[in-house]
Amino acid sequence: LKVDPFDLIVFGGTGDLAHRKLFPALFRRFLDGQFAAPTHIIGVSRGQMSSAEYRATIAQALQQFSGEAASAETLKTFLDMIDYVSLDVGAEDGWSVLEKHLSGDPSRVRAFYLATAPDRFGVIAKQLAAHGLVTPASRIIVEKPIGRDSASAARINDAIGAVFSEGQIFRIDHYLGKETVQNLMALRFANALFEPLWNSAHIDHVEITVAESIGVEGRAAYYDAAGALRDMVQNHLLQLLCLIAMEPPNSMQADSVRDEKLKVLKSLAPIDASNAATSTVRGQYHAGASNGGAVPSYTQDVGNEKSATETFVALKVSVANWRWAGAPFYLRTGKRLPQRVSEVVVVFRAIPHSIFNVESGRISKTRLVIRLQPDEGIKLWLMLKEPGAGGMRLRYVPLDMNFAEAFQIYAPEAYERLLMDVIRGNATLFMRRDEVEAAWRWIDPIREAWSQLNEPPRPYFAGTWGPAAAIALVERDGRSWNEEI
Ligand code: BG6
Repeated sequence: LKVDPFDLIVFGGTGDLAHRKLFPALFRRFLDGQFAAPTHIIGVSRGQMSSAEYRATIAQALQQFSGEAASAETLKTFLDMIDYVSLDVGAEDGWSVLEKHLSGDPSRVRAFYLATAPDRFGVIAKQLAAHGLVTPASRIIVEKPIGRDSASAARINDAIGAVFSEGQIFRIDHYLGKETVQNLMALRFANALFEPLWNSAHIDHVEITVAESIGVEGRAAYYDAAGALRDMVQNHLLQLLCLIAMEPPNSMQADSVRDEKLKVLKSLAPIDASNAATSTVRGQYHAGASNGGAVPSYTQDVGNEKSATETFVALKVSVANWRWAGAPFYLRTGKRLPQRVSEVVVVFRAIPHSIFNVESGRISKTRLVIRLQPDEGIKLWLMLKEPGAGGMRLRYVPLDMNFAEAFQIYAPEAYERLLMDVIRGNATLFMRRDEVEAAWRWIDPIREAWSQLNEPPRPYFAGTWGPAAAIALVERDGRSWNEEI
């Protein structure tokens, strides 16, 4: 299970992502005994600080975000692997200091993690090359969002691609690192039951919900320029859609899976000015109640009274191919919704003929609910006979599998899995360049249509399920969002 010793360089090493996600994930992998000495982690940022001071900030971050109890000695062993280099990526100083921290062994994995804004990706790649820091065993890891539309994504990919080959580039979509998201592939391709039915002849529609109860937290500037479509749909929701809709890949090998996902992205029927009004809903939260307390409006949260940025999106998406024509995918995501819940609901078609009389009750459609987070699990809702001697009463009940109960072992956080995959060189759970750009090419016309329509986002109160129009989007088709949430 151990990985070979490696050097990991975290640009944006003092940032939110590093503190909240990366270091806690590294710590957890370290506690699990996965690191071999002498592994070395180097935080890089602009501010002046000694390595000792940096380690103290990391210790604090671990205390706040990791929830792992460790002895002082264990913690010290981990912190001792960490150093800090102060560096302005646009300037020339500091790179040689960084180099001194890196192993001279050309076969040792050197992973550059760019936990920075995407407009820094190109310059960092260029500087790494200019200062001779890129070895054959080097890898670069970039966070989403890669750009803000297909043109800027292509520019960023070009700039990184000028220095690193595609096989060295790991584009993170942390949803792919979630255990339950990987389970979508296990469920579909390791069982004989579902795949024969996995098409529009048997499936009525699919719902994908990624709901958050939080607002924009400390990321107002980023979020206000991005909005939910760029922040969540272009990456996380489309990746989920791909895993559900794709053809069976030939193997779990990275390009087999990515080829199939790409085909799905290319099959998405365009949403543009001709159909955006009927296929999309964009919303923005107003003051309301969330997590048991009163919360301000989005415009107050970001300090921009005029903001027309969407914090909620619902879409009706058609995957225009033989497998899916006629079975729409309804997607929704938003901030300040009633609860944090992500799930995929696959609703099968109605039975063709009922042999039961009306007293037996209404026959609901078979429904497969895959709960991605929290309370990860899978429910298959079926009609069964209610026990009793008084005739045939049917009831809709779930076959219910809860991962925590079924496995009772620790499920790693997405970043734990993904970071170790980078070190091992396994790219299956990372996005290839063409995928990212195909996703943007589908997203761009939606944004253009919205700006042509020039309507403000529809309001919804914080703590509700988004604008009423999002419910109408599904009900217009005689369907409804999963009410069980
Ligand atoms: C990030 C988005 O990619 O995903 C955030 O930028 C969002 O806005 C987050 O809050 C949600 O991730 P998770 O793992 O908490 O569902």
